[in-house]
Amino acid sequence: MPEDSKQRQRAAHLADDPAGGPLTTDQGVVVDHTDDALAAGERGPTLMEDFHFREKLTRFDHERIPERVVHARGAGAYGYFEPYESCASFTRAAFLQAPTVRTPVFVRFSTVQGPRGSADTVRDVRGFAAKFYTSEGNFDLVGNNMPVFFIQDGIKFPDFVHALKPEPHNEIPTGASAHDTLWDFVSLQPETLHMMMWLMSDRAIPRSYRMMQGFGVHTFRFVDDRGGGTFVKFHWKPLLGVHSLVWDEAQELQGRDPDFNRRDLWQAIESGAYPEYELGVQLIDERDEFAFDVDLLDPTKIVPEERVPVRPIGRLVLDRNPDEFFAETEQAAFHVANLVPGIDVTNDPLLQARLFSYLDTQLIRLGGPNFGRLPVNRPVAPVRTNQRDGYHQPDIHTGTAYSPNSLGGGCPAIAGPGDTAAFTHRAERVEGAKIRRRSPSFQDHYTQASLFWHSMSDWERRHIVDAFRFELGKVGAMSVRERTVEELNHVDHGLAAAVAEGIGVVAPEIGADRRPDVLSPALSLESLRGP
Ligand code: HEM
Repeated sequence: MPEDSKQRQRAAHLADDPAGGPLTTDQGVVVDHTDDALAAGERGPTLMEDFHFREKLTRFDHERIPERVVHARGAGAYGYFEPYESCASFTRAAFLQAPTVRTPVFVRFSTVQGPRGSADTVRDVRGFAAKFYTSEGNFDLVGNNMPVFFIQDGIKFPDFVHALKPEPHNEIPTGASAHDTLWDFVSLQPETLHMMMWLMSDRAIPRSYRMMQGFGVHTFRFVDDRGGGTFVKFHWKPLLGVHSLVWDEAQELQGRDPDFNRRDLWQAIESGAYPEYELGVQLIDERDEFAFDVDLLDPTKIVPEERVPVRPIGRLVLDRNPDEFFAETEQAAFHVANLVPGIDVTNDPLLQARLFSYLDTQLIRLGGPNFGRLPVNRPVAPVRTNQRDGYHQPDIHTGTAYSPNSLGGGCPAIAGPGDTAAFTHRAERVEGAKIRRRSPSFQDHYTQASLFWHSMSDWERRHIVDAFRFELGKVGAMSVRERTVEELNHVDHGLAAAVAEGIGVVAPEIGADRRPDVLSPALSLESLRGP
């Protein structure tokens, strides 16, 4: 297979590393000794003038950078994406125009809660972030392995993550979802319930990154070459099918092989069993924006596939492991605002917050504004900006750096009107008072959580009940346990009763506010107790 544009770019970069010669300092001076520091006599103090010794220790002292504030633990791989057919009828994105267009991709899979060194097989959401190095610039699809999210508005994200992360006084628990603060937040914010149902299901313990779905979660927008828009929800489907561990396996693996998922990904690629995923889209005509009983801008809801089928549009193959974990996987910087012409965002309030957060965090995590020049982040499309300076600026620019500009240098020209190469923000009429209220369907936190529960088979329901019992059973505050059970009672009474029984809480009554359509009379407490 001939090298793609990203491989050629990386190869040029790797050539800078002169393997084979003797050890040198950072200044290129050949070192005569690296095992004993220069000292004043056989038993004397170490001498500061040993610049190699000082440099070696200083560089070591500065090796760590902050880990990602969420999704700290991950594993990445390179590959390529190919469309099955032209998607020109709904997007002008160049990488989706023809099956002959092969686009290099870097993907990073991750867990959300735990630190870099936590175990792979914890109960958690998995990140599925893909960077497409397209001919028109980088497009990042920064998704998860579950189709909905915990909260509806990004302003709550710090609260949610503070509740999810280890508790501040003792930093317990790392890499698990069983603790008071998380469940306290959940029980007070019913919008989390749909996602919590997914989190308590076997989806939260994938057997392999190769056997995991991915979702863009938000509604995005495709834009065609006439400026016409189509709402789109992105779905990744693994060709190996979706498979999970069972909880006992997951727990045992946390001890036996904390790298279980990343090892599996690495070894599969090394052995030529390349992971493959199909990219599918749910397309919704803009005229149907209000045709659903959910708001398309609400990231805690799905658009049912029976209403809008997923249309496969291409495949992703991961066929190369990175050469260096830190340089590539750790320094990879994904951002939902990395968009290309033909793909745009919507007003989903969670997505809008993300548009701010990723670059903001990367400015500190990756030490300033020039991380886009790192090999894993560098586009293969030409980059001509008037951005200058900043920490670790690797480029030497000539001339001025502003536009418009008649004196030359920098990038004086901007794309003219009608230049098809340029990204144009989709024109959308926006009007309304400055308010913090959302449309009424944002307030329905139970219908889809209930639908999820009712779509499960008996054994899947048993796993969900067991997971709730395991996690909630570790919560110290009985009031939090009780409130969570009350919330589950809005999802399904059988579920709430079965969970209550396992965690020492009195089963709630069927409440007056419950809709009969979400009751599950066929499901007895007995059936949930399992064999
Ligand atoms: C990583 C913020 C919601 C998927 C991150 C990072 C931040 C962040 C700050 C660390 C980025 C870095 O250091 O490079 C937020 C905020 C959210 C939000 C403020 C809500 C307002 C979501 C949602 C998804 C998601 C809804 C999935 C659809 C990811 C993934 C990563 C990530 C996959 C890891 C990317 C990687 O592998 O480097 N998020 N996030 N996040 N987020 Fe979010």
